[in-house]
Amino acid sequence: MSSKVEKEIKLLRETVSKHDYRYHVLADPIISDLEYDTLFKRLEKLEAENPEFITKDSPTQRVGQDLTKEFKQVRHKIPMLSLANTYNEKELFDFDRKVREALADNEKVEYIVEFKIDGASVSLNYINGVLNTAATRGDGTVGEEITTNVRTMKTIPLRLHHNKSMRYKLIDIEVRGEIFMNIKDFEKLNKEREKKGERLFANPRNSSAGTLKMQDPREVVKRPLNNYTYTLISPGDNLKSHEENLEFLNKLGFKVNPNYAKCTSIESVIEICRKFESMRDELDYEIDGAVIKVNSLAQQEILGSIAKSPRWAVAFKFKAKQVFTKINKIVWQVGRTGAVTPVAELEPVLLAGSTISRATLHNMDEIRRKDIREGDKVVIEKGGDVIPKVVAVILSERKKGSKKVRAPQKCPVCKTPLYNSEGEVAYYCENPECSEQIKGRIEHFASRGAMDIEGLGEALIDIFVERKFLISYADIYHLYKMREKLVTIERLGEKSIDNLLKAIEESKKKHFEKVLFAIGIRYVGAGVARKLAYSVKSIDILINTSEEKLVEIEDIGESIARSVKQFFSNRMNLENIERLKAAGLNFKLKEEKIQQVKENFFSGKTFVLTGKLQKYTREEAGEHIERLGGKLTSSISKNTNYLIAGEKAGSKLNKAKDLGIDVLTENDMLKYLKEVIEEEV
Ligand code: IVH
Repeated sequence: MSSKVEKEIKLLRETVSKHDYRYHVLADPIISDLEYDTLFKRLEKLEAENPEFITKDSPTQRVGQDLTKEFKQVRHKIPMLSLANTYNEKELFDFDRKVREALADNEKVEYIVEFKIDGASVSLNYINGVLNTAATRGDGTVGEEITTNVRTMKTIPLRLHHNKSMRYKLIDIEVRGEIFMNIKDFEKLNKEREKKGERLFANPRNSSAGTLKMQDPREVVKRPLNNYTYTLISPGDNLKSHEENLEFLNKLGFKVNPNYAKCTSIESVIEICRKFESMRDELDYEIDGAVIKVNSLAQQEILGSIAKSPRWAVAFKFKAKQVFTKINKIVWQVGRTGAVTPVAELEPVLLAGSTISRATLHNMDEIRRKDIREGDKVVIEKGGDVIPKVVAVILSERKKGSKKVRAPQKCPVCKTPLYNSEGEVAYYCENPECSEQIKGRIEHFASRGAMDIEGLGEALIDIFVERKFLISYADIYHLYKMREKLVTIERLGEKSIDNLLKAIEESKKKHFEKVLFAIGIRYVGAGVARKLAYSVKSIDILINTSEEKLVEIEDIGESIARSVKQFFSNRMNLENIERLKAAGLNFKLKEEKIQQVKENFFSGKTFVLTGKLQKYTREEAGEHIERLGGKLTSSISKNTNYLIAGEKAGSKLNKAKDLGIDVLTENDMLKYLKEVIEEEV
């Protein structure tokens, strides 16, 4: 017999969950906030007095107290596939033809067309109706467990709305969907981050993915994550179609995007894709295409999948978004290496859900080629997370008397005369003490691809540099001594300073290749830094390697070698390195990193990467290959052992075929990578 209090707790649990659902999933609350708070507090109080009656699915248990130190790897029971992309009608017709060819003659085919939400995919596992685990997609086979973070999302039920009248068993089910952030919420979050001096997220997708990987669920709950689910895997429950799955997900308490359509021909699929594309700008979240799925689950089964994507579904990608606006002014911006680049200040316009007021003009060559001028009407474009760019000038609308842009003579910040070496498009400010360069160098040092110091963003760096807390990036590791002063800075406070100091401490663990990238040698991007790190193995050796020896390293050309030597001939740079060494940063390749790698498929072979990869960026794939002893080159020659070709591989693929060089798919590469990585664990 359950006690009276146990019954009340159960009833409160169900009532609060119901109101959470009405508010967060249906957006249709039926009680006031005050009434809701009263119920919630009563539940909290009773649970505190009777902790033995707290259950995992109680709405009070969404936010755990423990920090996640490491995100555990989880193997997906069924791989999380990705989708092949189509870009035009012809490719959609091809998809339809292949579907029909694989099915019996004259079999009817229905398609469901959905929005392709631009977020982070998630897999949710429910056991006996209760949320058990949540995981990221990862590489599709193995993801990371993010349960504590996903539990904080009130749009995701902790317990399924399952009742006895439903004929389904739902013993062990998997639900998949997309976690994203509404554009307005994302912009608000970025504004708050800007105020606190934290690094900004490039787009809503990055901010959702970043949030899901935060260590503290108490922070995650403050982030406005949203979600739509679109896959239900419920073995033995005999659901017949994707549409039934969607309807059922809805009944179980999940958010399902209402904008989907059922089509009986590819022509009507195309019509819907166009309609969805035209709806894109009115939505308050980002979509980057449509997803077309064969409706019948039996047909899906027959169609099966090839390598990484199903044959029964395809994505239709929308075109990059373009808008017209006016260039109010062209300004010159000083980067960390002293390069002075032109930026167009635009009449603000809404593009891809966010307001755009600046676009890069790259360099003087680009300005000349497109004859871009102040006051011009222009077309700007933004695709994915790239910075908006000026695609074309509307010459017919050019105002009379407009003037050609002239390259600047002096640094716009410190007024030092600019340097432009012959044959180079860039103009440089060569004063290393130029405040913009100092800020730029520190920003680069702290950025995600380098030392990745969370919390040390542009605005905070501005303040620190202006108040002389930071003069070089080496000072970052001395900030802790100034804690008392830092906490008095307006808007910051103890907690954010302590978090920042913790992140700074944490960054000391970064490997040599990241440190080498972070110190900001001109022309030494992440890939070159990695290459140098693996071939020379320590900064001391690098400092003492001659230019002639440096160019012997694969892919290190003369300008990189010269720039490296120049960097180390500067006393200030050497001093900074000594200070960073003293702070404990890695200036040598880790011993275990050198020795641990056994002879493997990649050892000693030369690879070229081309096309678009799914799981890794080319950069990341290259990182793995080099770590495992493979060599990477940028062009195909008879010395190339393998070409790894992703989607839309072009001329390199043809050349490889001509030369008879073996071609690997991304999946082949992943298979070989996995073999070594699994052995390493
Ligand atoms: S279906 C095999 N439906 O797009 C089926 N995916 O490249 C794969 N996505 O990883 C998923 N909206 O993260 C599906 N309505 C939708 C989607 C969707 C966004 C994402 C998902 C997936 C990627 C496919």
